[in-house]
Amino acid sequence: MKRVFSGVKPTGHLTLGNYLGAMRQWAAVDQHRADALFCVVDLHALTVEHDPGRVRRLSRQSATLLLAAGLDPELCTVFVQSHVDEHARLSYVLECVATDGEMRRMIQYREKAARERERGGSVRLSLLTYPVLMAADILAYGTDEVPVGDDQAQHVELTRDLAVRFNQRYGQAFVVPRATHPPVAARVMNLQDPTSKMGKSEDVGPGIVYLLDEPDAVRKKVMRAVTDSGRDVAYDRERRPGVANLLEILAACTQGDPRVLAEAYDSYGALKKDTAEAVVETLRPLQARHKELRADPSYVEGVLRDGAERARAMARPVVDAAYRAIGLLPPV
Ligand code: TYM
Repeated sequence: MKRVFSGVKPTGHLTLGNYLGAMRQWAAVDQHRADALFCVVDLHALTVEHDPGRVRRLSRQSATLLLAAGLDPELCTVFVQSHVDEHARLSYVLECVATDGEMRRMIQYREKAARERERGGSVRLSLLTYPVLMAADILAYGTDEVPVGDDQAQHVELTRDLAVRFNQRYGQAFVVPRATHPPVAARVMNLQDPTSKMGKSEDVGPGIVYLLDEPDAVRKKVMRAVTDSGRDVAYDRERRPGVANLLEILAACTQGDPRVLAEAYDSYGALKKDTAEAVVETLRPLQARHKELRADPSYVEGVLRDGAERARAMARPVVDAAYRAIGLLPPV
C-alpha cells in the first residue's frame, strides 16, 4: 500500500483554498487508497511572528476541521507535528545535506521574508530552513505521495532532491516522494485579487472564504468577487483570472469541468449566484460536523494522542536509520 503524507499549518483559519486544494482530496480519495498521515504542522507556524495562545487555538481548531472534513481515524493517522520528536530530529540531519543557496531560492521564503521586512520585522532563521523541516515531515514516513495544492510543488521538489542526495552520499535511507495535485482548484485565488492565492495567513479580507464562515458571509464574499471587464463567461486563467477562479470553485464544488460550465452561463451574476450556493452546500456538512466535534474535545484529544503514537512508531526506525547512515554513533 502506498504511503501518503500531508499537512496544514496553523497560522490562520483554514480556507476554501485549503479545502478544495488539499483536504477534500485527502478525505474523499487518499485515506481510502493509501496508508495516509495528516498532520497539523505547528512547528512550521513558529517561523513568522506569532502569538503562542493563537497558535495553540488554531492547532486545535485545524485538527478538529480535518476530522470535520471527513478524515476518519479508523482509516488514517491524524496528529500534531510537535507531538512527534522525529520531525525535528530528522530536520537537523537534513540541514546537513541542504545548502543555504537552495533555501534562499525558495519562492515562498523570498515572498514571506520580503513581507516580514516590509512590516519592519526581522526574518526568523526558521523561515529559511522551513523547507528542510517540511522535507523531514515527508521523508520520516517513507512517503510515496504528497497530496498538496500547487503552491507546495517547489517544496516537494526540494524534498526529492534532498532524499536523492542523502541516499547517494550515505546509502539508501529514504523513499523519494512525489507531489500530487487535485484535478481542479489546485490554486484557488483570492476573490478580491484573483492574481494572488487565497491564503489563510494573509490579513482577514473579503476575498478569503473561511471554512467556518456563515452561509451569508460566504454568499456576500462570492457575490462581491472581482471579475473581469469582459462580458461573456469564458474559462481563461491568463486573461480572465477572476471568472476562471469562480468557474474552478464551482467545478470543484459540483464535480464539474470549468470549461463545460463556462458554456452554461451568459452572465457573471448567475455564475456568482450558483457558485455561492455551491460553496455554501459544500461547507454545510463540514460545519455541522465541526459543531459536534467542538462539543466533544476529549474525542479530538484521543484521536491526536493515538495518532501521535502511531506516527512515532512509523517515523522512529526511519530516522534512526538516517542517523546511523550519516555517521552518528548509536546510543549505548
Ligand atoms: P498550508 O497550511 O499553507 O496549506 C495546506 C494545504 O492547502 C493547500 N492550499 C491551497 N490549495 C489550493 N488553493 C489555495 N489557495 C490553497 N492554499 C493552501 C496547500 O497547497 C497545502 O496542500 N508547507 C505546507 C504545510 C506542510 C506540509 C508538510 C504539506 C508542512 N509540512 C509536509 C505537505 C507535506 C503549508 O504551508 O501548507
